Amino acid sequence: MSQLDLFGLKAEHALLEPELQAAFSRVLASGSFILGAEVEGFEREVAAFLGVQHALGVSSGTDALVCALTALGCGPGHEVVLPAFSFFATPEAVCRVGAVPRFVDVELAGFGMDLAGVEAALGGATRAILPVHLYGCPARLDELAGIAMRAGLPIVEDAAQAFGASFAGRRAGAWGALGCFSFFPTKPLGGFGDGGMVVTSDSDLAARVKSLRAHGAAGKHQHVEVGGNYRLDALQAALLRVKLPLVDRRRDARAAHAAAYAEGLSDIAEIALPRIPSGGVSAHALFTVRVLDGQRDALAQALLARGIQTAVYYPRPLPEQPALASYGYKKGQFPQAELACEQVLSLPLYAGMAEADRLRVVDAIHEYFR
Ligand SMILES: Cc1ncc(COP(=O)(O)O)c(C=O)c1O
Repeated sequence: MSQLDLFGLKAEHALLEPELQAAFSRVLASGSFILGAEVEGFEREVAAFLGVQHALGVSSGTDALVCALTALGCGPGHEVVLPAFSFFATPEAVCRVGAVPRFVDVELAGFGMDLAGVEAALGGATRAILPVHLYGCPARLDELAGIAMRAGLPIVEDAAQAFGASFAGRRAGAWGALGCFSFFPTKPLGGFGDGGMVVTSDSDLAARVKSLRAHGAAGKHQHVEVGGNYRLDALQAALLRVKLPLVDRRRDARAAHAAAYAEGLSDIAEIALPRIPSGGVSAHALFTVRVLDGQRDALAQALLARGIQTAVYYPRPLPEQPALASYGYKKGQFPQAELACEQVLSLPLYAGMAEADRLRVVDAIHEYFR
């Protein structure tokens, strides 16, 4: 029985090998390995793809968030409103700039922040709203934009998982004052190591991020603030330029698999299918169902026994992470996030997935519940 993994990266990259090798050779010959022409070229291409004025390559999605929040002046004494259910990097970035993460419970449909919860969380100390497009599914950006506008607050989008997603015709990442992406290898635009990007259409914010990613430099040997080393490598940029033109096509292929999964699993009462908000186009970074009746872990085991890899993103609500204990959040405060942590299960999904493999997953799930 062949093993079926979650992302199918090896097969995908094998298809692109000649172009990837050529990109590698180009960088090798250039002798320029950090920022430079490759990164600038990639930044221009990403800005055009997303419909934004500026794109700045950085060292990771986490550092993208740190740069974006710092550029907004977010720091000690400020709060940032964010979902209780995401990857740890989202609140970590808030803490790293010295601000306080103000968690909001999520909606189980789409896993975005509960909008009434967002409004209730806003206060005098709020400096930014930080929605996450979890699993590539865009948050309800139009309504969030309305809330942010009425409150006079900027949105920073954590679009780490959502390259290629959109809402109401505008790309995820292009809605907020700033958008942040990750090029972690398994992301919708995945690199060959760590990498990330901050995008914005505000020239002042772009200039600030550009300075922050290179030690707060305003010119050679002139440091106007304390930034960091958040630069993107030329090699990552060159390799990512090979994959960028394929983003939408690969997203559509994943969407087709996701639709077929949904159809194949629709008759199983214990499976709650993912829902995308009306007006949204998901990047389908992951196909994540909720397994009801406490059967998630047993189902995952049964699938693994059949050679099918699954994953739980994420098993613990963020406010319950030990590193955030000092904020004093209590179990029971975020019931939907807690439920999500008990129920979510991501199934194998990738553009080049064979139909037979998808059917094998669907059959194995039916067999478990039979
Ligand atoms: C929602 C979310 N935010 C932020 C990050 C951080 O990105 P990176 O791993 O590139 O630092 C990730 C990556 O897993 C993520 O999924």
